[in-house]
Amino acid sequence: MRVVVSDSHEAMSERAAAEFAAAVAANPTATVMPATGNTPMEMYGNLSRLRREDGIDFSKLRIFQLDAYRGISPDDYRSLYRWMMTTLVTPLGIPQEQVVRLAGDAADPDRECAVFADLVRDAGGLDITILGLGPNGHLGFNEPPSPVDAPTRRVPLTPESMVSNAVYWGGEQNVPTEALTAGMDLLLAARAIYLVVSGERKREILARTIDGPVTPDNPASFLQQAANVTIFTDRAAWGDRPLP
Ligand code: F6R
Repeated sequence: MRVVVSDSHEAMSERAAAEFAAAVAANPTATVMPATGNTPMEMYGNLSRLRREDGIDFSKLRIFQLDAYRGISPDDYRSLYRWMMTTLVTPLGIPQEQVVRLAGDAADPDRECAVFADLVRDAGGLDITILGLGPNGHLGFNEPPSPVDAPTRRVPLTPESMVSNAVYWGGEQNVPTEALTAGMDLLLAARAIYLVVSGERKREILARTIDGPVTPDNPASFLQQAANVTIFTDRAAWGDRPLP
């Protein structure tokens, strides 16, 4: 596990974007699974700036959606598909045909998950995942407890995730109770894993992710055993611990 601690959220976002852009320059047709959520938004903004100002070409990337609320259509302004499209895919000039959607509104969600996982495997697996860290250690919507080999599947959201997502839904009572998520098996097998973590609110779970017991009760702790993990974080999340 490589940990890069930056002074601020802004600096962290620039650093993560620069490393991602370098990885794309080396592998322009990479398969990428990007998180939504707040933490990577500034990183994504930096990527679009790198495209504009430095002419970096992201247009050949193949994108796989990380997670989706159950029963929400892709056009809904709260859908994670739409969030991913408007903040990353469209600004980077990636054609929609290169995006594999995880359809939260599929009539048969279990089948949708199986088909999606096969599409990832058929593409040769993931080159890069960009993940955020849930306050309860979730990756995507792999809520605790999630074993190391948890497959792509339908999951109930934990009360904790419903509380933390309430802001996007105008209250906890409106948050969907289920989601579909790419499995731990796919995420952990990615050839490069970026975890972006910022803010004091993530300090405790970040410490547990890096140094705590490896356990399904903190799915992110399995990153300790995965290959090629880089954690981009800021001082607020890192706290007073000695720098790595
Ligand atoms: C979003 C996702 C979630 C978030 C996590 C952190 O697609 O998969 O796992 O990455 O909840 O969210 P933020 O960054 O908003 O703290």
